[in-house]
Amino acid sequence: MYRTHNCGELRIEHVGQEVTLSGWVQRSRDKGFMMWTDLRDRYGVTQLLFNQEKSSPELFESARTLGREFVVRVTGTVIERVSKNDKMPTGDIEIEVTSLDILNAAKTPPFTIEDDSDGGEELRMKYRYLDIRRNPVKEKLIFRSNLAIEVRKYLSHQGFIEVETPVLIKSTPEGARDFVVPSRMNEGQFYALPQSPQTFKQILMVSGMDKYFQIVKCFRDEDLRADRQPEFTQIDCEMSFVTQEEILNTFEGLTKSLFKSTLDIELPDFPRMQYDDAMRLYGIDKPDLRFGMEFTELNDVAQNKGFSVFDNAELVVGICAEGIADSYSNKDIKKLTEWVQRPQIGAKGLVYVKVGKDGTFKSSVGKFFDDAALATWVEKMNAKEGDLLLILSGETDKTRKQLGELRLEMGRRLGLMKEGDFKPLWVVDFPLLEWDEDSERFHAMHHPFTAPKKADVERMLNGDHETMKSLRADAYDLVINGSEIGGGSIRIHDRELQSKNFELLGFTPEEAEDQFGFLLGAFEYGAPPHGGIAFGFDRLCAVMNGQSSIRDYIAFPKNNQGRDMMIDAPSHIAPEQLEELHIDLAQKEAEV
Ligand code: AMO
Repeated sequence: MYRTHNCGELRIEHVGQEVTLSGWVQRSRDKGFMMWTDLRDRYGVTQLLFNQEKSSPELFESARTLGREFVVRVTGTVIERVSKNDKMPTGDIEIEVTSLDILNAAKTPPFTIEDDSDGGEELRMKYRYLDIRRNPVKEKLIFRSNLAIEVRKYLSHQGFIEVETPVLIKSTPEGARDFVVPSRMNEGQFYALPQSPQTFKQILMVSGMDKYFQIVKCFRDEDLRADRQPEFTQIDCEMSFVTQEEILNTFEGLTKSLFKSTLDIELPDFPRMQYDDAMRLYGIDKPDLRFGMEFTELNDVAQNKGFSVFDNAELVVGICAEGIADSYSNKDIKKLTEWVQRPQIGAKGLVYVKVGKDGTFKSSVGKFFDDAALATWVEKMNAKEGDLLLILSGETDKTRKQLGELRLEMGRRLGLMKEGDFKPLWVVDFPLLEWDEDSERFHAMHHPFTAPKKADVERMLNGDHETMKSLRADAYDLVINGSEIGGGSIRIHDRELQSKNFELLGFTPEEAEDQFGFLLGAFEYGAPPHGGIAFGFDRLCAVMNGQSSIRDYIAFPKNNQGRDMMIDAPSHIAPEQLEELHIDLAQKEAEV
């Protein structure tokens, strides 16, 4: 037998028992005639005591050879510790070892297997099996597992059934590039890995499954960031005969239940915000509501006073950072100005006003605006003495985006994004289509299967080009603390309307038929009204734990170049394999 107990479970009441434990050597302290070793497994750490006086010379010698991360089995008696450690659940006891088996020796690990490791990201990823031995990573994976169980419990109780959909499919246009897989049996043809099971879950509604869910891998070949991986997991859901209202309520219920069961947090009802309001007040479609600092538009009070930058701008808009007028020096403001001028943000400049005592102000545009003029801004922005107003101007969409970034930066700098504070909201009424200036085409804001609002159907079928820009969709996002956790929509279930949407998106009838004939065909055999949502499961895990990176919630993540550092993928494949797949790289190179 390898063990009678695990390394996390022995307590004072076990004193006197003979036990066998197996695990990894965390560290040893050798005091000459006594040696203490911490033995670790998934469940915890137990202290072992090797006592020279009480053990055979062989046993004591063998204990001395133990190095970090050796795998051992020990048998011994549970005894009460002389100096207890109240930081460890097993800190009241230790094991006086009577027998030791070294099950496997280990090389010295390339970084310390401690909560605060000295290993950099790349090294930790290369030796991910060692990294996962560390508590912070291990606990994240356990959290993820528990969360998945709670998702399945909740949705099953609500009558959802989990259906697996294929991984080798035809591409679904969700906006990113597809990963493709060459087909050996069909020369020159490729499967695509699903960016999401979108079309399959809709087909399952046509099949009468009524309520579907799946915890499912999705694949997107897009630029990677802390909250984006090329393969990630969704809680993917779809329901028939539902309105947007019922979907929002169902998945608000799921979210609340997950917070309660895994974090013991009761979330209040989620506010709803229209997309237009989110953009107008926060400059982003996923506002972080842990702090206010909403935008105030100043066109009516700041224009036509002779300051040409404002006069020529489509929008003049500001935020009020409370109480920092005194602590923000000219140097700080210069740095902030440089921050908004970086290419990533792209603002031309930053105007500030410091609200001083007795209606006096300090401002970068004091030359153009006297105190009486500045007082109108201050009033409009509800600012008080000691506040700092930060103002940007320019073309509406760009300026909002820039100020949105500045608002988040100020939130970070001022410590307004409090850990443990959760502010979920639904952003609703997204535009159906988005005009892309570069390609001069409409793109689907969510995806091409999203339905316009009922009131907009007529305008969609008969309106002109400009009308299309104003169509609104029954599409919604779940946002928590500024992170897009989920997104979904009511779908089009009518062939005519779906064809019209494809046409607006620039598909010829032949292209639409070629790519989506199966779905359009299914719509002709009794498609019920339906809608759904998908949560980013990795993101949900991270946000629930106040983390911005999803990497440690994924056992084997990829780096920013899309590489798996441990298995060293992607990699070249053998010429024979290429040949079987009808891929002639040599010819391609010759062509180039
Ligand atoms: P969407 O594309 O909005 O919708 O994706 C749903 C959610 O998945 C998460 N997500 C990601 N997480 C990690 N890495 C990525 N690369 C990544 N991309 C997306 C986000 C996002 O909100 N089929 C539709 C859903 C529907 O309409 O029902 C879809 O996939 O949290």
